[in-house]
Amino acid sequence: MKIDRRAFLKTSALAAMTAHAGKAVAMLPSEQAAWDKWESTAIPRPEGILASSPMLQCPAPDSMGVAFSVTALSAGFAEVADNPEMKGSRRIEAEGVPIMPTDERVHLIRMTGLRPGTRYWYRVGAASLAHPIGYWTKQSEIVWSAVHSFTTPGESAPSHFAMMSDTHAEYGQMARMTAKYRGLGAPFVVWNGDVARSKMNDRNDLVRNFIELPENDGYASDAAIVFNSGNHDYRGDYAWKLDEVIMPRPSSERAGRFEHLMRNFAFRAGEIALIGLDTGEDKPDRHPSFGGLARFGRYRELQAEWLKDQFNRPEIAKAPYIVAFVHIPIFDSDPNANPGNVLEDYAEWQADCAALWGPTLAENGVQLVMAGHTHKYRFDPATAERPWAQLVGGGRGEKTHQTVVDCRVDGGKLVADVWNTDSDTLIASHRFDPRAC
Ligand SMILES: [Fe+2]
Ligand SMILES: [Fe+2]
Repeated sequence: MKIDRRAFLKTSALAAMTAHAGKAVAMLPSEQAAWDKWESTAIPRPEGILASSPMLQCPAPDSMGVAFSVTALSAGFAEVADNPEMKGSRRIEAEGVPIMPTDERVHLIRMTGLRPGTRYWYRVGAASLAHPIGYWTKQSEIVWSAVHSFTTPGESAPSHFAMMSDTHAEYGQMARMTAKYRGLGAPFVVWNGDVARSKMNDRNDLVRNFIELPENDGYASDAAIVFNSGNHDYRGDYAWKLDEVIMPRPSSERAGRFEHLMRNFAFRAGEIALIGLDTGEDKPDRHPSFGGLARFGRYRELQAEWLKDQFNRPEIAKAPYIVAFVHIPIFDSDPNANPGNVLEDYAEWQADCAALWGPTLAENGVQLVMAGHTHKYRFDPATAERPWAQLVGGGRGEKTHQTVVDCRVDGGKLVADVWNTDSDTLIASHRFDPRAC
């Protein structure tokens, strides 16, 4: 049948406008049949499609990321409101992309347009997808999670966070840690590396390590994760696909020439500025284990430039307290400690990073560096030559214990309380004066 194109266009436009009425007009019979089939196809409500509670991540003064896992191909949604009843909630739309992302395993959504230092309530949801006709797609009803809450960071936010590291997929032990920081009411947690048991081989490893943690469901539904990579998080054939479960930091935290430094963070939580630096692997790039693929040397140099640039941001330069984060320590008082730039064994500290970053930290009055990696709690007080102190958190091991550090401003000081989460005892408390700025 020959179609009158002008009439077809006119009636098709009319059809689009009247689609909500359920019947298109003046279509070809075959097209009408397709519309009818699309309309009459029932997509069952996908009970059980949400495989995890939401995992908050990448907190920023004007945005908050959230991830959750699903059991089927679906579109992911988030809604945010300023009240627990979710009155007047705002559905987050995928800004700047032409079509909503879909996935069969994980959804990552950045809730944008938020105010700093503000408490919000939110929920996530997923709609399964079917294709009743060819590529034509239809959504199910959205299945929603429970409502949870978060507080955005920023200069007006609470001066409070927690730090943990070296969890190595020991989920029972980790349950004590997550219970601890939730009990302390920390709005967010710096997860300072070595999330992987040893390496990450496939997507399920990533999802299980970051989102579907056994014995820890909801571990980051009300306290956001700030992730900093450890050496083990670079191992395995799937490790470089971390962006499938952890979104990049907001681009406002780096100038254009640092666009690839998507994991480095620098933001304020009340009176504290937090700066995240990635020490990378614990062996030199030329070590055979990397098969010629490692580029950590240049990566660390680029971070040195980024670090200097952060102090051009007034909210960082004027912070009363600055805490920097590294996975591998950047100081060790033992002259025999492995400095990470020799082929033997592995780094106990990272001498190259210390040389690249240490002077900038000193010049800018950074009071504290928090590290992990050695699995043994340690505190290195500041000295005249190295005016920043270093706190190394504890990790799994037969003779060590897993720690959570509770860091906050109290009584005009920065306080870092170190908790042994195996025995739930406070094992150390450190105090720091404000910077002279
Ligand atoms: Fe570790
Ligand atoms: Fe490590």
